[in-house]
Amino acid sequence: MDKTTSIHGMWSSRLMFILAATGSAVGLGNIWRFPYMTSDNGGGAFVLVYLGCILLVGLPILMAEILIGRHGRVSPINTFRKLARESGVSRHWVAIGWIGIVAGILILSFYSVVAGWTLHYAFLYVKQLAGGAAITDPGATFAALLADPLELTFWHALFMLLTVAVVALGVEKGLERAVRFLMPALFLLLMMLVVYGMTTGFMGQAAAFLFKPDWTVITGGTFLSAMGQAFFTLSLGMCTMMTYGAYLPREGVSIGRVGIAVALTDTSVALLAGLAIFPIVLSFGIDPAGGGPGLIFTSLPLAFETMPFGIVYGLAFFGLLAVAAWTSSISLLEPATAFLVERFGMASRKRAALGIAGLSWLLGLLSVLSLNLWSGVRILDRDIMTFIEFIANDLMLPLGGLLIALFAGWALNRTILREQLSDMPPVLFTTWRWLMRVVAPALVLIVLVRAVV
Ligand code: TRP
Repeated sequence: MDKTTSIHGMWSSRLMFILAATGSAVGLGNIWRFPYMTSDNGGGAFVLVYLGCILLVGLPILMAEILIGRHGRVSPINTFRKLARESGVSRHWVAIGWIGIVAGILILSFYSVVAGWTLHYAFLYVKQLAGGAAITDPGATFAALLADPLELTFWHALFMLLTVAVVALGVEKGLERAVRFLMPALFLLLMMLVVYGMTTGFMGQAAAFLFKPDWTVITGGTFLSAMGQAFFTLSLGMCTMMTYGAYLPREGVSIGRVGIAVALTDTSVALLAGLAIFPIVLSFGIDPAGGGPGLIFTSLPLAFETMPFGIVYGLAFFGLLAVAAWTSSISLLEPATAFLVERFGMASRKRAALGIAGLSWLLGLLSVLSLNLWSGVRILDRDIMTFIEFIANDLMLPLGGLLIALFAGWALNRTILREQLSDMPPVLFTTWRWLMRVVAPALVLIVLVRAVV
């Protein structure tokens, strides 16, 4: 029956869950990835497809993950084992948990490399404050970083250590403390950057690029990228939100409401990031299309060098972005760690976290090298880092999400669903259920099939 607590600890309140889940959702995906995906996929049309994916697929699956987690109360693999038994369906559903663990290790591997870039940039601004050289040619500064495997490895390692440290401490001591103040601070900083964008005189043009769809640039690839981005930004498809849901108290917490709160905040941060970055891009005469993964690193420093207190600002911005990445990376590590803890006993949380992170760090070296020494290596037309990102974000997450939707829609019995979503009006409940059963799986399947063939 439904347990009321998990052995890994519990969020101390509903607010803490929302902060932690938002901390997981808001990260590099919103501030680094969303702007450049929008840039590479032609602007408004991509944004619109992405918003559609969030609403029809992302939000409903987010609720499904939280619900499954809160009912199971253990790590994803054991949750599926338990729930499948309870509902009398095949135990092969456990595969979703395994997909999640593998995807998590893959994503963490390159996520930590990119988060390392943000640490490096924060450090560049510290050096500037201490009288170091200005970043006069951001393109060259960025290229120099990518060309240096040792520098990249150092920051990648440092970031991974920070991640392990929090996860090793556990839910209450580690995860909660990290999110309480830092997330609101980042939000504030982003707002200030949007205000700065208004002073450039290019806000109108930026908004047009973001919100006026040019349908001629849409291809099948746009849908795949938008779907992948929707899953990535909401931390869906690899049982992260399920794991966080397992630590969510029952009393007085509405899954529908917390789901909406998380999805809304996450989407607003991405759109705000777009409104902060594109005016700067445009005002410096950079082409907003085809910016690539370097977009924020080659555009924002231009503004930081010219605006008042820009250096302090640059430090705060990249520092807080690193923090946002941190609260996300811990959520990439937590599901696998929780599984190992259940498998081998509570005493080993530290070792479990260290083992998984070590593996992911090693894999991350492939991404590091693909940026320089191995940049010529191509797999399916992509460099190694882009390839790992493609497999994990664009294929594994949607596949995981598709299976989670089917599990929630068809395998779990209705009583469990109704019990978890008890406050939901009947019409909404029925809508949600059919989104899970038919709409979300169909949309994801179409996108996946088109990607593969
Ligand atoms: N959502 C985070 C971001 O936007 C990244 C992330 C954290 C994630 N946990 C995840 C992505 C689980 C996919 C699955 O930066």
